[in-house]
Amino acid sequence: MKFFIDTADIDEIKEAMSWGCLAGVTTNPSLYARTGGKLADFEGHMVKIAEICKGLPVSAESQSKTVEGMIEDGRRLSALAPNIVVKLPICAESLAATHILASEGVRINMTLIFSAPQALLAANAGARYVSPFVGRFDDIGEDGISELNNVVSAIGNYDWGGKNVDNQVEIITASVRTPNHVTQAALMGADIATVPLSALKKCLKHPLTDQGMASFDADWAKVVAQ
Ligand code: E4P
Repeated sequence: MKFFIDTADIDEIKEAMSWGCLAGVTTNPSLYARTGGKLADFEGHMVKIAEICKGLPVSAESQSKTVEGMIEDGRRLSALAPNIVVKLPICAESLAATHILASEGVRINMTLIFSAPQALLAANAGARYVSPFVGRFDDIGEDGISELNNVVSAIGNYDWGGKNVDNQVEIITASVRTPNHVTQAALMGADIATVPLSALKKCLKHPLTDQGMASFDADWAKVVAQ
């Protein structure tokens, strides 16, 4: 399973990129707002992220509510850099826009997916990525992992050749909050997990690793220098 980072914060992206294990970036309107960025700077900010990521996919979300607006945004955002993927929220308008944009070679990440039927509709319209959310189910006391499992099984049952420019649909596990979300997504074969930096850091750490490093250091200090 590949890791994307789920943030629009340039410093966080640079920090996670330096680890050498990132395969992409996802942003959304809330994440951009959190950076304090202005509307006029949004596209420049996406270009900056796309440059830092050197060819890795970077999702930039349209906020349009109409088919025409989404198509216009999709064409403009995808022209900013070859690695920009256009993110659209699942709805009738975004399916129609995806159908047109995919036929033009634009890669779409269909977001706010909460069920297998939504994911199947998105993939059939030509989405290159579908993003089922896990943590937001958990927030309302439901089981995000079992819903993710439905999406992984349903999408995995079919061949998506001819539906988009890469002839494949990858599942981006989104709304990831914990290392266990990452473990479960990988065990069921989700292609990607997009993870905030704070949760990536939790994935990196383990108390037994810390304990082990401390005891190795203590023992190394006992080794007599020649
Ligand atoms: C990713 O594409 C989503 O926008 C993101 O993972 C949402 O996460 P949240 O539920 O923590 O806001």
